Amino acid sequence: MIRQIRKIGDPVLRRKAKKVEKITQDTHRLIDDMIETMRAHHGVGLAAPQVGSPVRVVVAEIEADDKIPGSGMTYALINPEIVHHSEETWENQEGCLSIPGWRGEVERPYRITVKALGRDGKRIRLEVEGWVARVLQHEIDHLDGILFIDKLVAPDRIWRVEEGKEEETAEEMALATP
Ligand code: NI
Repeated sequence: MIRQIRKIGDPVLRRKAKKVEKITQDTHRLIDDMIETMRAHHGVGLAAPQVGSPVRVVVAEIEADDKIPGSGMTYALINPEIVHHSEETWENQEGCLSIPGWRGEVERPYRITVKALGRDGKRIRLEVEGWVARVLQHEIDHLDGILFIDKLVAPDRIWRVEEGKEEETAEEMALATP
């Protein structure tokens, strides 16, 4: 089921999301709905608070592209935690389905290690870089009530785009890959 995406101004986006204590049927339904909602909006990632559920669940999916490591996979992470990040950072543009019609420039670590639970309850450890690392950092920030506009490289490095184009396509990502 496609769920309604909460927009900036909705307090759920600014709350700290709660840990998932037990993976239940509801958790599975939430993940399925998040994936469906992300795809319906041509997004590359989504965090549970964006569909009004203040729990620590994120999904991400970047269309397969040889130039983007980790693309072509669907990530569904429960209680994700960034346990390591590189000193090396890079700047690039980000958008957010909760902030329609805007993109801005954000600096983030290039490489991260994420610990999480998969939907089967098994522990996952992911080492990701580039765009996948950027998207996962953006989504994990949502779980702490942080939005990309809080992290702009400078207050004026934000600009308007057509609504529905706030998240980049794999093609744009491949072009902008360091
Ligand atoms: Ni977002």
